[in-house]
Amino acid sequence: MKNMIFFMLAMSMLLLAACSSSNGNLTMQAKIDSLQKQLNDTYKPGLGEFMSGIQVHHEKLFFAGQHGNWKLADFEIHEIMESLDDIAKYSTDRPESKLVPMLNTPLDSLNASIAKKDAAGFNKNFILLTNTCNNCHHAVNYDFNKVKIPTTPPFSNQEF
Ligand code: HEC
Repeated sequence: MKNMIFFMLAMSMLLLAACSSSNGNLTMQAKIDSLQKQLNDTYKPGLGEFMSGIQVHHEKLFFAGQHGNWKLADFEIHEIMESLDDIAKYSTDRPESKLVPMLNTPLDSLNASIAKKDAAGFNKNFILLTNTCNNCHHAVNYDFNKVKIPTTPPFSNQEF
């Protein structure tokens, strides 16, 4: 009889332990699900938004270069490079993002011209960069988005 009571007690403790641990797993799973949902709902900019940002910096970069404002030119080209890093990080759902490294060579050349304060080199390499933007747009069937050498400064409230 004593053995029987002991056995029953041991069994109910085991059952209790099993129950509470499966409950623990359930709440953990619910937490993971809710975090996953929050993650999925987190806003992240789309490729088109990154491109619109790049468009502005491309234009500012040009006018900085035209005015020999090399510090601003250096800043603007790095803004473009940061956006390209963001595309690699956040736009993995877009197969086009794999083509971004095609900008590396023109960006390197333009960076070198800015470092040397070389206006002629800047103009040549700015054309090379712009042509490469369009080469990608062509390659991914967005060639209706044609980038060109700007003609007027984009903003009246910033000095170039
Ligand atoms: C890896 C390929 C690729 C490269 C390189 C690239 N683009 Fe794009 N660009 C795209 C794609 C794809 C879109 C369309 C995005 C979308 O779906 O909204 C686009 C769209 C644009 C748009 C249209 C945005 C709008 O809403 O009107 C502009 C402007 C633009 N790109 C500028 C540039 C500039 C400037 C460069 C070079 C500094 C560049 N792009 C380089 C792929 C590229």
